[in-house]
Parts: sequence; C-alpha cells; structure tokens
Amino acid sequence: MPSKTSRVRRKPARSRAARKPRKPVDAAVVPEGFYRDLVWNLRNGVVAITRDGRVAVMNEIAYRVLGLKPRQSDIGRPFSEVLKEVPDVYRIVAGAFDISHLPNRAELRLRRTNKVIGYTLSHVRDSRGRVAGATLFFKDLTRVEQLEERERLRDRLAALGEMAAAIAHEVKNPLAGIEVMAGILKRQLLESQDAQTILADIIKEAKMANAIVLEVLEFVRPIRLQVENIAVSDVVRDAISAAETHATKGTVQVRVSLPEDLPPIQGDPHQLRQIFTNLVTNAFEAMTGGGEVEIIAAALAGEEPAPGVDNAGPMVQIAVTDNGPGVPPEVMDRIFSPFFTTKPQGSGLGLAIVRKIVDAHDGRIDVGTRPGGGTLFRVTLPVKTQHELFG
Ligand SMILES: Nc1ncnc2c1ncn2[C@@H]1O[C@H](COP(=O)(O)OP(=O)(O)O)[C@@H](O)[C@H]1O
Ligand SMILES: [Mg+2]
Repeated sequence: MPSKTSRVRRKPARSRAARKPRKPVDAAVVPEGFYRDLVWNLRNGVVAITRDGRVAVMNEIAYRVLGLKPRQSDIGRPFSEVLKEVPDVYRIVAGAFDISHLPNRAELRLRRTNKVIGYTLSHVRDSRGRVAGATLFFKDLTRVEQLEERERLRDRLAALGEMAAAIAHEVKNPLAGIEVMAGILKRQLLESQDAQTILADIIKEAKMANAIVLEVLEFVRPIRLQVENIAVSDVVRDAISAAETHATKGTVQVRVSLPEDLPPIQGDPHQLRQIFTNLVTNAFEAMTGGGEVEIIAAALAGEEPAPGVDNAGPMVQIAVTDNGPGVPPEVMDRIFSPFFTTKPQGSGLGLAIVRKIVDAHDGRIDVGTRPGGGTLFRVTLPVKTQHELFG
C-alpha cells in the first residue's frame, strides 16, 4: 500500500544497534495462533529448539513418529529431557549448534519405533542473522522403505524365479518317473522284505522332493490375485484342515476364535488359505506332537487416515500362536528369507510364501514371542486391497 510505505519512509533513521527486531509484516493479516496451528498440522514432523536448548515447537506428527506422548508442558522444557527417550534424535538436535554444514536430506532409523525418517536440520536466524535456534524437519519414510524393499524383492524374484522355475520343471518329471518306477518294482518284489522297505523309502523321499519342488514353483510364480469377497473364518477353517494333512498334529489342541461379525475382505481365497496353512503347519511342526495352537481373528476399525501411517481403513487381524519353543532371537530376522530353515527336511519357503501373499494383499505380518513361551504370528489384512495384481 502506498500510504504504509510512505509512513515507513518518513520514520527517522535509527542507528543499526537500536533497530528493533523485524516485525512480521503480515501481523495484521494473519490471525493470532495461526503459525502455531500451521506447524501443529504440518504433514511433516517439526521439532525446534531455542539457542539455550529449550523446546520451542514440537508438532503432532513429531510426537507420533518419535513415539512420544504429546504434552503441553514440553514447550519451554530442555530438549535433553523431552527427547531423552529418543537418543538418536537427541544427538542430531544436540549437534545443531556445533556444525556449520547442517544435514539436508539425511536418513535415520529410529531404534525406539523402528521407523525410518528423512530429515533436514536448519538454523533459525533472527533479523540480524544470529542463530536463535534450530529446527529438525522430518518425514516418516517407513512406508516408502517398505515399498522399495518390496520392489527390490520383486525384481530379485523375477530373475531368480525364471531360473528356479525352469529347474523345478526339469526335476519334476524325473522325480515322478522315480516314484512310478519304484512303485512298479515294489509290486514285482513282493516276496523280498528288504526290497519292500528300501522301495518304500525311495517313494517317500521322492514324494518329499516333489513337495519341495512344488513349493519352489509356488514361491517363484508371480502372484495373480483372483480377488473375491471372502469370509476370513472359512479360509482359516480350511487352512487348519489342510495343515493337518501336511504335518503331524499329534495331540496338539487347536483353538479358534472367529467372531461372527468379521467383515468380509477382498482377497484371493486360495492364496489366503495358503498363509494360514503354512503358519499352522509351522506351529504343529514346532510343537512336535503336543501343545496348543490358537487362532484368533478380530476386526480393527482402522486408524484415521494420516500421512506416514500404513493402511488406514478397516482391517482384519488374525493371530496364530503356539506354545512351542519359540523362534530363537538370533534367527528371528531371517525366518522370512527364502530357503531359511532350521528343520532337517524343511524347504524354508513357507514363510517366504506367506510374506509374498500378505504383501500382495497390502497387508502386514509381524512375529513375536508369546508371553510364557511360544510364537505369535499376526497377519493384518485390509478389508479392501489397493493392488489387484502383484508380480
Ligand atoms: N511357529 C514357529 N515356532 C518356532 N519356529 C518357527 C515357527 N514358524 C517358523 N519357525 C522358524 O522359521 C523357519 C522358517 O519357516 P518356513 O519358512 O515355514 O520354512 P520351513 O518350515 O520349511 O523350515 C523354520 O525352520 C523355523 O526355524
Ligand atoms: Mg514351514
């Protein structure tokens, strides 16, 4: 506005030292509290500290991603106290005044929440250019990371898959041949007990090798989901019967809790059945004949859609627990890798297939230890899938 400008110009020039700090030009336009609301509602995390080490700003996303509980009283408190439980972030902020080249676009995995953040650190300068504080600006990259990992896995499988599928096909026919011919011999050598035992073993081994070949084929084959509206309860029940034919159930008690009102989900029934067949089979195998397997399904209302938060809509969660020996902590991060097995006759593909199917349904799987011993696998599936195809 001309009038405003001329008024400013008419002011007597002050000495440099006496000049007042710059006043926000838009103070008249912007309602009070606007900046606070703006920062609070940003889709990125913001933590700002003053030069004397107190928290000046910390927004909702920052609290959420760092896994801290929002407290009004944090503002003004030393950041060393507020960020005490997230030492990795504390260290970054603490270095803000010591380094001249602040990181722009660095990444960090938070040990507390296991989230990956991408962050920028910048100085807050006053009108005279002096450093008055520092800001950490960050984004939750966990979802992006998962997608990238999924992408990498898919690429690897595409190359590996072609080769494995070719080999598996080549091996399948001779295996079938061995089984058939051993069967013929077995019928011809009825009188020899030794031959009967050996041939029975040959047939058994050939069958087992064939099962592994089929599993490899299942694993490397790109998933084409035939999506239907399905009842999770039916899938789980079928899976339990299938698992009983794959592994020795012995005296294992199977308990299921499948609420009547579970929402139907969109998914491929055959593939989903495979998830639970593999999990229950593993549970039976882990308990070598005695124990308890529990399968509990529940509907989750879903979180409010928010940036950086995984699947937001309603979900169904199925927990498969056993009271076997549990997964030893040192192998925990390898059990989903293809061909990782601790069993003499294992293929190590069961959980790799499970993860592939869960991914294709846009779901999540996590594994933990059941209190009191045993293993807990938890599959979370969105009621609606975003991807209809995978691979
Ligand atoms: N319920 C469970 N309890 C204990 N260990 C398990 C369980 N499920 C899986 N595991 C571990 O994970 C490994 C990989 O499982 P999986 O991929 O199904 O292959 P496989 O069953 O052929 O070994 C198993 O060999 C076992 O060590
Ligand atoms: Mg298995």
